Amino acid sequence: MTWHAVAALADFGGRAVIAREAGGHALALYRVGDALYATQNRCTHQNALLSEGEVVEGYIECPLHYGLFEIATGRAQGAPVCRDLATYPVRVEGEQVLVEIA
Ligand code: FES
Repeated sequence: MTWHAVAALADFGGRAVIAREAGGHALALYRVGDALYATQNRCTHQNALLSEGEVVEGYIECPLHYGLFEIATGRAQGAPVCRDLATYPVRVEGEQVLVEIA
């Protein structure tokens, strides 16, 4: 497992989700209140980019067919999405956001 510096806190600007790549993985990086989370960026339904979706109270809504996933756990919330997202540990060092990837 390796920690990758993927973003600065300032990179979020006013956004709740941004796209990043690390260790060959496409990531969606979320800021929900003071908490940070990372999931795979591709929806498990038909591969839409979740970083282009909408964050709604702890959930990410896919921009293509509006499937919902819980951000903290990656859990699919029902049709059209039935497979959970991969999630990754996140930590902050100073202004840097790091994600742990196998
Ligand atoms: Fe995400 Fe269909 S691609 S719900």
